[in-house]
Amino acid sequence: MADISSPALHKALAKLQQLVPSAVRVEIRVCDVSKESDIAALVSTLDAWGGVDIMFNNAGIMHADDADAVSTPEAIWDLTQAINVKGVWFGCKHAVLSLRKFNKTKGSIINTASVVALVGSATPQLAYTASKGAVLALTRELAIVHAREGFRFNALCPAPLNTPLLQDWLGDDVAKRARREVHFPTGRFGEAVEQANAVLFLASDESSFVNGQDFVVDGGMTKAYVTPEGPALAGPANNASLSGRVDGVPGAGL
Ligand SMILES: NC(=O)c1ccc[n+]([C@@H]2O[C@H](COP(=O)([O-])OP(=O)(O)OC[C@H]3O[C@@H](n4cnc5c(N)ncnc54)[C@H](O)[C@@H]3O)[C@@H](O)[C@H]2O)c1
Repeated sequence: MADISSPALHKALAKLQQLVPSAVRVEIRVCDVSKESDIAALVSTLDAWGGVDIMFNNAGIMHADDADAVSTPEAIWDLTQAINVKGVWFGCKHAVLSLRKFNKTKGSIINTASVVALVGSATPQLAYTASKGAVLALTRELAIVHAREGFRFNALCPAPLNTPLLQDWLGDDVAKRARREVHFPTGRFGEAVEQANAVLFLASDESSFVNGQDFVVDGGMTKAYVTPEGPALAGPANNASLSGRVDGVPGAGL
């Protein structure tokens, strides 16, 4: 697992060890995805594991100063593209290099985009939206270019989620929150675990014929016009204890 934030990594590692106590081969590494040298160094640490098989390019920002065409500062535009687009490109590039270095005949790369690259929003975040559109376009092209090497590329398109990226920004502003919740057929934001399970599918051989897709995981949001009334449904719990299911042989890491 890699992230620019060391505290975030340690938190994720602690959570993983709590949920899957027998997971023995887990490494964390601080990495700024907008710097190619960081990504190259990160990927080279995987040489000891036999190179890359799966790469999930998920890091991204939505800056608080990101706004509309008139008010978005140029520096915020550049920062957003550097992380959200260039970071994904570097991740894809070094995944391909590693897959080739180890003569792999299959690989799966998943790049996180967003539903905002598919549907327009009256709450502007122009730099972010443009960056996610770029992720869709570059993922699609890479999927075709590398298809006969067996390397698949898919873009994940999450709907607004119950994660810090959005929720810290919404805070306890009920009106701002309601303006978004009304668009969900089930009346609720997505949970991280629902994206994670979609990524597991895309990473696995079970998705061997899924390539070049804008893989939308949005609870039906982008297919909805008028949504139902009534109370929202409950979402699944994130980080529900997995160890019973994951550790087929308890304590063996299997
Ligand atoms: N939260 C949503 O509503 C939502 C919706 C659609 C798409 N997404 C996308 O999902 C992905 C994950 O977002 P999240 O909701 O978990 O947000 P998050 O803010 O909780 O997590 C993003 C992570 O990226 C890391 N990061 C930021 N800049 C980095 C850099 N330069 N190098 C390495 N790591 C960096 C952050 O430290 C953080 O841990 C992002 O690409 C985001 O754009 C989120």
